[in-house]
Amino acid sequence: MQFYIDSADIEEIRQANKRGWVDGVTTNPTLVAKTGRKNADVIKDICKEVKGLVSAEVISLQADEMVREGLELAKIADNVVVKIPMCEEGLVAVRRLASDGIKTNVTLIFSPLQALLVAKAGATLVSPFVGRLDDIAYDGMELISQITQIYENYEMDTQVLVASIRHPIHVLQSALMKADIVTCPYKVFAQLVNHPLTDKGIAQFLKDAAAMPK
Ligand code: E4P
Repeated sequence: MQFYIDSADIEEIRQANKRGWVDGVTTNPTLVAKTGRKNADVIKDICKEVKGLVSAEVISLQADEMVREGLELAKIADNVVVKIPMCEEGLVAVRRLASDGIKTNVTLIFSPLQALLVAKAGATLVSPFVGRLDDIAYDGMELISQITQIYENYEMDTQVLVASIRHPIHVLQSALMKADIVTCPYKVFAQLVNHPLTDKGIAQFLKDAAAMPK
């Protein structure tokens, strides 16, 4: 399973990259707005830092405009993936960009049938949002189970990128369901590292090492 970081903060991405948590990056307008910088400038800097795929989101809602924006974003670097919100016009844009060889990631997926349409349109990645479903008392991970099953049934090429991850259990269940990718905030990766028995073990080893003859 690939690890992407869900961030537009270049320093955070650098730190995560050093720890091996950056097979790719996802951004969105909310994350980029927090940097106070232009989308294209942020994406350019991230692409210099990271070899894997970097999702950069369009903000238009008309297919022609999405394609125009997408082609501009794709010029920034070879590893840019054009992120497109789920809607009818978005599917038109995905088909056109895919026929030009441009990679796409369809975002804001909340149902398995949306994901089926995304794969049929030829998207590279699909982004189901598990945390936002949990927030409204639906089972986000059930969505991942259904999408992975459908894609397996029909041998679909689109990769499942589990998004809106809130905690380590989302990552564990994604791995058990054979999701292709998880995209996580830095703090969730950091939570994966920790275990109280590890801390206790380290403290004991340090204590015993201090008692060794010098
Ligand atoms: C993924 O591509 C999205 O940027 C992200 O995972 C959304 O997460 P949120 O629901 O925490 O905003």
